Amino acid sequence: MLVLPIIPKSLIKIFARQYVAGTTIKESLAIVKKLNDNNLYATIDILGEHTKNINEANEITSNYIRLIENIKKNNLKCNLSIKPSHIGTDISNDIFNENLNKILNKAMVNNNFIRIDMEDSTLTDISINTYKSINSQSLGIVLQAYLYRTIRDIKNLKNNSNIRLCKGIYNEDPNIAIKNNDKIDENYLKLLKLLFKKQIYVGIATHSEKLISKSIELINEMNINRDSFEFQMLYGVPMEKTINILLENNYKVRIYVPFGPLWYEYSIRRIKENPNILKYVIKNILNKIKEALL
Ligand code: FDA
Repeated sequence: MLVLPIIPKSLIKIFARQYVAGTTIKESLAIVKKLNDNNLYATIDILGEHTKNINEANEITSNYIRLIENIKKNNLKCNLSIKPSHIGTDISNDIFNENLNKILNKAMVNNNFIRIDMEDSTLTDISINTYKSINSQSLGIVLQAYLYRTIRDIKNLKNNSNIRLCKGIYNEDPNIAIKNNDKIDENYLKLLKLLFKKQIYVGIATHSEKLISKSIELINEMNINRDSFEFQMLYGVPMEKTINILLENNYKVRIYVPFGPLWYEYSIRRIKENPNILKYVIKNILNKIKEALL
């Protein structure tokens, strides 16, 4: 992880305001409702990771269960994304399994879906092994295109798997991860092709215009059915133009909506892991100022 000089808290607040959907379940659901009203699907993530205390892990599990109930009650088009270390992997694999199964059972009863987010490479094996051992249509996982191992992981997946494919956000060792962005893009498309070939449902999670248009080329070339994939983007990333084009062309788009009281810790960790995020935020603020001045 990179060591950064002191980042002003006001800048972190600007980051959080744009990318975090409030601190409460109510606030996050209000944002999901707005997204749904604009024909966008959502996936909610409660912010936090590396929970060390069993009571806390259980409380987070209860909050995810409460979210499922509220999503159902409000008839929202929204599933859940969960980080394994948030619900127990730092305590024990059994606790993680137990909590994931509690949430999954609730999701199944309520016709919902859970996606296991992918964290850093120390958690790749436990995440994938747990996903495979549960083998439920209501459960999906994330795979990262920057990891050399991912091609093997996809080859070993069953056809009824459900994968979100992203580039990967963590600062991994060059022995296990591709570091060059163009090469990651190249691998992303290769992996996407393989997922389509295996008829695996894919969440194409990227903001890269280039990757999105190359993915659409691939979809057309391979004649992939519209109900075999969706596009996914993070809440707050300014992608309105692209999203509108995707919607006009009847593609399904899902927005990843993180919320929770731990917004400060989350923001700091994300920025430390990937200082580029700070560049994006500054670029977006400058663009908004430019637009306002024109
Ligand atoms: P790239 O990094 O090339 O960005 C393309 C352009 O998008 C940039 O030039 C910039 O303008 C804009 N952009 C990208 N990220 C931005 C940001 N945060 N703020 C503002 N602008 C931004 N990773 C992981 O390791 N595990 C996971 O579980 C997930 N889950 C996940 C879900 C969803 C829905 C998405 C979209 C992404 C993830 N990721 C993730 C993060 C992912 O791995 C990756 O780090 C980021 O999406 C950035 O890569 P892009 O593919 O967007 O391209």
